[in-house]
Amino acid sequence: MARTLWLDEHGRLLTWDQTRLPFASVPITLTDESGCAHAIRTMQVRGAPLIGAVGAYGLALAARVDASDAGLRAAHARLLATRPTAVNLRWALDRLLAAVLPKAPADRAACAWAECARLCDEDAACNAAIGRHAADRLRPLARPGRPLQVLTHCNAGAIATVEHGTALAGLFALAAAGAALHVWVDETRPRNQGASLTAWELKSAGVPHTVIADNAAGLLMRQGQVDAVIVGCDRVAANGDVANKIGTYGKALAAGDNGVPFFVACPVSTIDADCPDGAAIPIELRDPREVTHVRGRGPDGRVVEVQLTPDGVAALNPAFDVTPARWVSALVTEHGSVDATAPAIAALLARAAGARS
Ligand code: MRU
Repeated sequence: MARTLWLDEHGRLLTWDQTRLPFASVPITLTDESGCAHAIRTMQVRGAPLIGAVGAYGLALAARVDASDAGLRAAHARLLATRPTAVNLRWALDRLLAAVLPKAPADRAACAWAECARLCDEDAACNAAIGRHAADRLRPLARPGRPLQVLTHCNAGAIATVEHGTALAGLFALAAAGAALHVWVDETRPRNQGASLTAWELKSAGVPHTVIADNAAGLLMRQGQVDAVIVGCDRVAANGDVANKIGTYGKALAAGDNGVPFFVACPVSTIDADCPDGAAIPIELRDPREVTHVRGRGPDGRVVEVQLTPDGVAALNPAFDVTPARWVSALVTEHGSVDATAPAIAALLARAAGARS
């Protein structure tokens, strides 16, 4: 699988402009800290692990300009302010600072660049492991005589990470192993990451799928047409509450009401041990225009934005919601799947720390 973030032959950092997908695959070059910050803020790059990786490179590029303690701390604060909910951004920026501050200023830029490469390699390996564990949880849920029916919300695919994805990594792994599989893809209003990005990734990988309106998921679960739900995640609190794309909570409730397992796939770096519960997770409020308008391709092939609502109506646009831990069947991480409970999460973090040392 190709990487979402890569270096060209001149050592320049490139990624896809996700605001142009699925209609055009347009690479963008990230040359400085402000370019990385802009890409995160405008969602040219998105998805918790990818935001972390691009934030880290932003700090490494800042170190080429000013590698002083004060300069690096200021760049860390600017990059951290770009998007508030996904904790992977803070995790990656903290990791970079911790790696470079002990070095002499002259060595810091090179050290930061090398640390970014390690972080990206680890993200790819992590997600491959998540994919294997997720496939193991999903495979036995297939009912006789039909493909495994999995529903997903938003986009937790390869393009939301450095490589492989998290929730979709499990689906890619199942498909690669020849499992009969069909994916229900929530459109994921207001930005439609499901309809545009998840459908694009599944189509490219040849995984059978059907896009549904967000409001259809509950009905499908009641009809027995969903064997499992798997989503990605932007932050797991210490008690197992999870923040993910707005609308996730409703899917978890419907899954719980219908006895459908609800899995949350995430690397350990998405767990915020300092965050006691979901109420402490900051929820990003985005431009109401994302609710009142929608973007799509017109009959002449041009991508246009059209207005849905009457002129001047009020709109509110929270980008994430919190699903209480009691609705989560398991967190599927690179170290295997665990219950979404405080003791299980504490034990997982201890195991992960042990594996690192
Ligand atoms: O606002 P976005 O598109 O960055 O939100 C993305 C999600 O909510 C994903 O589910 C999450 O970041 C996990 S990505 C592997």
